[in-house]
Amino acid sequence: MKDLSLHVLDIAQNSIAAEAKVIQITLYFNRGNDYFELVVKDNGKGMEKDFLLRVTDPFTTTRITRKVGLGIPLLKRNAELTGGSFSIYSEPGAGTILTARFIPSHIDCLPLGDLAGTFALLICSYPKINFIIEIIVEKTRFCISTKEIVEAIEGVPLSNSSVYPLVKEFFNTNLEGLQITNLG
Ligand SMILES: Nc1ncnc2c1ncn2[C@@H]1O[C@H](COP(=O)(O)OP(=O)(O)O)[C@@H](O)[C@H]1O
Ligand SMILES: [Mg+2]
Repeated sequence: MKDLSLHVLDIAQNSIAAEAKVIQITLYFNRGNDYFELVVKDNGKGMEKDFLLRVTDPFTTTRITRKVGLGIPLLKRNAELTGGSFSIYSEPGAGTILTARFIPSHIDCLPLGDLAGTFALLICSYPKINFIIEIIVEKTRFCISTKEIVEAIEGVPLSNSSVYPLVKEFFNTNLEGLQITNLG
């Protein structure tokens, strides 16, 4: 994965495949202490304990198209390469929460990529899922959900082609406002 936004998309796809109805994505920037956290929480079908123990291993997957699941192991590896950490908790029938911590000052830390585009794509492509996007930079918090965006666009469907660029622009403006240009 070339950048963080691609990891976000990939991990969100797992939650979508697990039939989550609510997916909360939190980006937490702690510049003072030189760390960044990505937290993805869903209320999908979850994983059994024995499977969960193996899920960070690249040879674990329930996909039938290929034998190797790589999304989670790659995120774990990219976080740990910076001196950060990775954790995942899951409960069958309840959901999953995954946290990847990166150390931004490390030379191997990924760039952010197109986060605004990723959030807009998820929100506009999966209108039945309530995405909650939360961005915290030190003491400043920005939070927006699919539900709030639906209210704001007053009846225009999320799938309407005019909506994606608007939502993307909205995220870009807010990311700029929070002065987010890299993980650090
Ligand atoms: N949020 C989740 N909820 C339920 N199961 C999950 C979730 N994330 C991952 N999994 C399970 O873990 C497996 C491995 O995920 P991943 O490493 O992303 O590889 P892939 O998606 O290619 O299979 C998935 O096939 C799925 O069975
Ligand atoms: Mg995956």
